[in-house]
Amino acid sequence: MSRTPSSTVRPVQNAVWNANVLTQWRDGQGQERSPCPFLNAAANHGIINYSGREIQVDRLRHVLNAGFGLQGKILDTLMNGAQDFANKEKQRAQDSASNHFNLEQLLEHGVIEHDGSLTRERHTSADPKRALARNNAAIDGLLSHAENGYLTYSSVAYWRSAVRHKEEKDGLQPPTSIPWKSKLTAAGETVLLLEVIGRNGKLAVADAECFLKQERFPDGFTPVKPGELGTTYLGWQILKTVVREEYVHRFGKQKTD
Ligand code: HEM
Repeated sequence: MSRTPSSTVRPVQNAVWNANVLTQWRDGQGQERSPCPFLNAAANHGIINYSGREIQVDRLRHVLNAGFGLQGKILDTLMNGAQDFANKEKQRAQDSASNHFNLEQLLEHGVIEHDGSLTRERHTSADPKRALARNNAAIDGLLSHAENGYLTYSSVAYWRSAVRHKEEKDGLQPPTSIPWKSKLTAAGETVLLLEVIGRNGKLAVADAECFLKQERFPDGFTPVKPGELGTTYLGWQILKTVVREEYVHRFGKQKTD
């Protein structure tokens, strides 16, 4: 069976991640969850609040930085998103001293949540929560594009395009819309999936299935060592991914096909 490179390297111990984290997983059923498989998995493993409520912004920054090796502009961008939701919650609760958010807030359409998701149905005005639940058929669709047992940038580009074509024809209201900001966000999610959960642009199908369907970090998963995931490297992957996903969608194939 193919293994993701992250599960074949020497285990990393850090302030967030240790061997116990993998055994601490609990199903998130009945708890508050988000459209993001990573944040849901982090809650399921108890790295952030299992309830999915009152996620401290400082704790999330620490988890992403010390636990998963993210830093620089990429970390700041992710944390700006989290901070926006925490600010909204501060206002709603009229509690200026708090700095936390709840996972379901992330469903707000057009902030981070967007059309063309890989694993969720798209949001509609009649059913704003439609984009919350995982869709196992969609996940199987994504996995069916794997190459030699691995999800790759190419696999995601083909599945993203298939999803977009289906959404463009679905007749639901409002019509599907993916502004460039959301395309960039979606490309960022692809890169996080294949570099943080996978490694070097590859994620073994069994590991992808575990992460996306159970929202559980795969057996043997080891986060990158701090400093290993350079901002320039991730930024370049994101740029290439936006171009690849758009090219495949418009022309039906990659330049190299
Ligand atoms: C290492 C960190 C992270 C990883 C690996 C990750 C991974 C992903 C992936 C792969 C998706 C795409 C799911 C799909 O298309 O169906 C996604 C979606 C999303 N993520 Fe994350 N994520 C991370 C951090 C964050 C953070 C810090 C936030 C905000 C505080 C966030 C918010 C979201 C939201 C709102 C979506 C839904 C987008 C959509 O498909 O409409 N993520 N994430």
